[in-house]
Amino acid sequence: MGLAFQVENLKFKYPSSKEDTIKGIGFDVREGEIFGLLGPSGAGKSTTQKILIKLLKDYTGSIQYFGKDLKSMDNSFYEEIGVGFEVPVHFSKLTAMENMKYFSQFYKKTADVQALMKRVGLWEYRDVKVGEYSKGMKVRLNFVRAMLNDPRVLFLDEVTNGLDPKNAGIIKEMIAEYRAKGGTVFLTTHLMNDVEQLCDRVAFCVNGKLIEISTPRDLKLKYGKREVKVEYRENGTVSSAVFPLDGIGFNEDFVSLLKSGKVETIHSGETSLEEIFIIVTGVEVK
Ligand SMILES: Nc1ncnc2c1ncn2[C@@H]1O[C@H](COP(=O)(O)OP(=O)(O)O)[C@@H](O)[C@H]1O
Ligand SMILES: [Mg+2]
Repeated sequence: MGLAFQVENLKFKYPSSKEDTIKGIGFDVREGEIFGLLGPSGAGKSTTQKILIKLLKDYTGSIQYFGKDLKSMDNSFYEEIGVGFEVPVHFSKLTAMENMKYFSQFYKKTADVQALMKRVGLWEYRDVKVGEYSKGMKVRLNFVRAMLNDPRVLFLDEVTNGLDPKNAGIIKEMIAEYRAKGGTVFLTTHLMNDVEQLCDRVAFCVNGKLIEISTPRDLKLKYGKREVKVEYRENGTVSSAVFPLDGIGFNEDFVSLLKSGKVETIHSGETSLEEIFIIVTGVEVK
């Protein structure tokens, strides 16, 4: 499998800012994977996405897109990518379908808009002006827009932000199906749930730098505590005990507690990605 993106020593400075916003980062996005860029607000996630989609061009370092210098790509690049911006951009005086028709005309190839609109639950509201849409409806329409040209690579900036769990679940299902059909996804998020459920690999971005690039599983193994916590009921009150995971089968206290029939819950000390985020970045997720 090839590399959709190969980024080396990427630096970027906004004209109005004194220092670099992106301070020399490098990473690969493999074809067919969901790559997550995560980090706190202001870390540089959206800026990185804007550079990868050629919206911000004054960067230094190198970006290869399927083996070609991104700077050498002509407008055919836009035929291949789908973009969900952090803030949905639509014409509020046009209906949802009018918006989708408008954006579709820029592409040679278009996806089945009706199927997409049905899937995200907006088909029955297709003739409603977007100005009358709720925030969540705009977010869902924003996702349909990103999928309009049946893209080879999909960019999603905080794609589930503002969605209730059911609708967020539908979008995540659609992203997973897109990958299953061979699609490549670059997504940015500050929500650990998205990462846990979707990402094959993640990079932590803090203050314009990347700290860890790994799989969610390896991160958990690296930062997770190797212990087991047991809650049990004794004389009407709940108590808990923690045992080291190593050699647990031979730990007599643990085994006798299991045999006592008093156990109510058992948890391995699997550190959540949220906790790992705090450890790795030193910043609490907000
Ligand atoms: N157009 C801009 N001009 C100047 N600074 C910007 C601009 N857009 C973003 N920034 C700054 O760049 C930094 C990174 O922003 P951003 O990439 O949006 O972060 P994230 O998406 O991780 O929250 C922030 O400090 C932000 O204030
Ligand atoms: Mg952002």
